[in-house]
Amino acid sequence: MAFSTVTVFATFSLFAFAWAGTPRPLVLWHGLGDSATSPGMLRFAEEIKAVHPGIFIHSVYIDEDLDKDKSAGFYGNVNEQVQLVSEQISVIPELEDGFDAIGFSQGGQFLRAYVERYNSPPIHNLITFGSQHTGISDIPVCNPRDFICQIARRLTKSAVYGHWEQENLVQAQYFRDPANLETYYASNKFLTSINNEILGSRNETYARNLASLNKLVLVIFTEDKTVVPKESSWFGTEIVVDDELVPGGQQRVLAEERVLVPMRKQPLYQEDWIGLRELDERGGVVFAECEGQHMQINDCWEELVKEFAG
Ligand SMILES: *[C@@H]1O[C@H](CO)[C@@H](O)[C@H](O)[C@H]1NC(C)=O
Repeated sequence: MAFSTVTVFATFSLFAFAWAGTPRPLVLWHGLGDSATSPGMLRFAEEIKAVHPGIFIHSVYIDEDLDKDKSAGFYGNVNEQVQLVSEQISVIPELEDGFDAIGFSQGGQFLRAYVERYNSPPIHNLITFGSQHTGISDIPVCNPRDFICQIARRLTKSAVYGHWEQENLVQAQYFRDPANLETYYASNKFLTSINNEILGSRNETYARNLASLNKLVLVIFTEDKTVVPKESSWFGTEIVVDDELVPGGQQRVLAEERVLVPMRKQPLYQEDWIGLRELDERGGVVFAECEGQHMQINDCWEELVKEFAG
């Protein structure tokens, strides 16, 4: 009896899908240390296909070779990588009428860069899991056996705002230390750009394109210790309050204190440098949570994928 109910329901669902037509295609951008066709990404794509039968999925790559693609998550010029991906996407016939997109970790801010700069074909819903939209103020630690990561981390930490580092180390290109913003503004060419942080070189197209999204779904991992601060996934950012003027005019330096400023309290939002406020006021920004550490997605993706993809 129970079995036949399930069968009838399944048949009905299939019928409903056929009725509704094929689901909107989906583009995935993997996270750091992963690659476009890793076993984990392939499994995830299969799980999505079980939720949205018939869905077309493209997993973006910088290099078709799995190891080189993983390496490109650490080494390379992000602006060039996003451009390359925009060219890759633009010639896939299945995507020509637009698509939804899911970005894992750094893949999330890279897809946002795609929206702001290219968006042709356009993204309908963009879901980002544990992404670093306002950057990171520390370089994540590596798996002890991951040498590609170890070396990249050491190089990145040694001179994060150096010219070579800013052109060649991926994480340096979204490193944003609130205690040293002037150097960041002067040297960074990726995050400062997609967040339209530099007065005088703000690009209105970025704001128009971001505001054209249907939904921007920002997923935070509640116990994230890899992304510092984890609220970067929700467009939160830190400011440093580091000294205090004591009576008598002498400056007393206190221990550096970092204060978190949520998205809606920042000039980026209030002055709407990137169209985020326009999108939010239209109800287009969705804040979501996954319980757990960075990228511990477990079953957390399923409801989001049901609602915002396909
Ligand atoms: C602004 O961005 C658009 C889209 O990427 C680009 O075509 C345009 O050249 C940019 N404008 C300026 C002034 O850089």
